[in-house]
Amino acid sequence: NAKKDLAGLRILLTAGTNVEALDPVRLVTNRATGKMGYAVAQAAVDRGAQVTLVTGPTHLSLPEGLAAVERIETGLEMYEAVMKHFDDADVFIGAAAVSDYRPKSYHENKLKKADGPLLVEFVRNPDILATCGEKRQPHQVLIGFAAETEHVLANARGKLERKKSDLFVANDVKQAGAGFGVDTNIVTLVGHDGDEPLPLLSKREVADRILDKMITLREGRLLK
Ligand code: PMT
Repeated sequence: NAKKDLAGLRILLTAGTNVEALDPVRLVTNRATGKMGYAVAQAAVDRGAQVTLVTGPTHLSLPEGLAAVERIETGLEMYEAVMKHFDDADVFIGAAAVSDYRPKSYHENKLKKADGPLLVEFVRNPDILATCGEKRQPHQVLIGFAAETEHVLANARGKLERKKSDLFVANDVKQAGAGFGVDTNIVTLVGHDGDEPLPLLSKREVADRILDKMITLREGRLLK
């Protein structure tokens, strides 16, 4: 894709997983590898955008040509990093699988085994995208992803409304060729004007389709 149709646009993007530590040894995390978010970041850079990437731990090498990168581990760190850059962004895209919960307390030393079950209390993390939805300026475009295993489109539409976003990219993570870890995805673009199902595509092609849709959404916002 040689066209520079995103020249000058400032895109803030999250990618990958979060890691929440219980103690110096044990972690709670999820299956996100960063492939989807990194594909969006690379596509946006290739199309001329100024991309700030907030990334969780990953084995991938960073996309080339980023304007800035923030490496974080926890949901709270991801929240702080996004808030630091949000006001300066034209577009926010949340491709990361953010930890919804973190352990209530971190144990400075390794938790010792006992005979009974281990009970860990979790508390909610802030919702990054929903916070962006509250803080947004009228021209800012907000795009979320929904990782679902059932009621995919209804759940994605609920998140679109609740998080005051412009578009949700819904993927059924139980479907072969979709979701975590693979190089392809099967998504539906869930917008205020309806659903647009896409076929099985490489994550790079999905990224380009999302960015194409983003241009239209931005034009709509600038006219308001
Ligand atoms: O990284 P890969 O291995 O390529 O996998 C890609 C993917 C499956 C992670 C990706 O396609 C995807 O679906 N990402 C979103 C995963 C997710 O956390 O979805 P969710 O339905 O729980 O969250 C909905 C949206 O709210 C997401 O944009 C999420 O970034 C955002 N969110 C969620 C919780 C929270 N506390 N803050 C948020 O901003």
